Amino acid sequence: MTGAELPIGERKARAVEEMFDRIAPRYELVNRVMTLGLDAGWRRRAVRELQLDPGARVVDLGCGTGDLCRVLGRAGLRAVGVDMAAGMLAKAHTAAPLVRADALQLPLRDASVDGAISGFALRNVVDIAACFGEAVRVIRPGGRAVFLEVSEPPNPVVRLAHSFYFRRIVPMVGGLLSDRSAYRYLPASTAYLPTPEELLGLLTGAGFARCRRVQLGMGAAQLLIGTRR
Ligand SMILES: C[S@@+](CC[C@H](N)C(=O)[O-])C[C@H]1O[C@@H](n2cnc3c(N)ncnc32)[C@H](O)[C@@H]1O
Repeated sequence: MTGAELPIGERKARAVEEMFDRIAPRYELVNRVMTLGLDAGWRRRAVRELQLDPGARVVDLGCGTGDLCRVLGRAGLRAVGVDMAAGMLAKAHTAAPLVRADALQLPLRDASVDGAISGFALRNVVDIAACFGEAVRVIRPGGRAVFLEVSEPPNPVVRLAHSFYFRRIVPMVGGLLSDRSAYRYLPASTAYLPTPEELLGLLTGAGFARCRRVQLGMGAAQLLIGTRR
């Protein structure tokens, strides 16, 4: 899969799974290099925004190699990671239990967790509204959800610099360290993301209240936050 073609539906699901299986061995290394280490702070902020007490149970949707699960664990939260790419799970290093499953059909009972979180997985799912809906189903009323995703900086100058970096440098660095076509796809896949207003609308429509968006890294990343009604 390359940036030139953006599949949808079942074809997208299979292509995403196959791509993450392929890049799993060096996924975390490339992440650190390509975000200049900023992603670590963004993940900590995402976990803080859950505002859940130690011991709370949180499902990490599209957990990949378990980066967020580790941050959740350090915050005293009980994480369970879910990802559909077996290759990513095989490379995970976290004490959290991990399950190979689709975030759109979670193997969890209704209202069985206190919160849900995801890091950079939203634009990879086939149906973002369905993903929010499934999070609502498994979170207890009053529980919290935080979705961390990439975003487009609002300032035109920053946006230009960011676009050059994201679309030119990232594929080059990704190509040197890992797989060029995958790291051409990852920036291109931002096209799957609805606008911030639409995302907040989807979150509210799914059953979250007090929905808000926080920009990180001058708008290069965003948090979408909601409380389960
Ligand atoms: C960009 S990676 C992010 C991994 C990790 N959350 C992180 O922050 O580093 C996106 C992950 O979402 C997973 N994913 C995409 N769609 C999924 C779905 N429908 N169900 C479960 N996992 C999914 C991919 O397999 C991949 O591991």
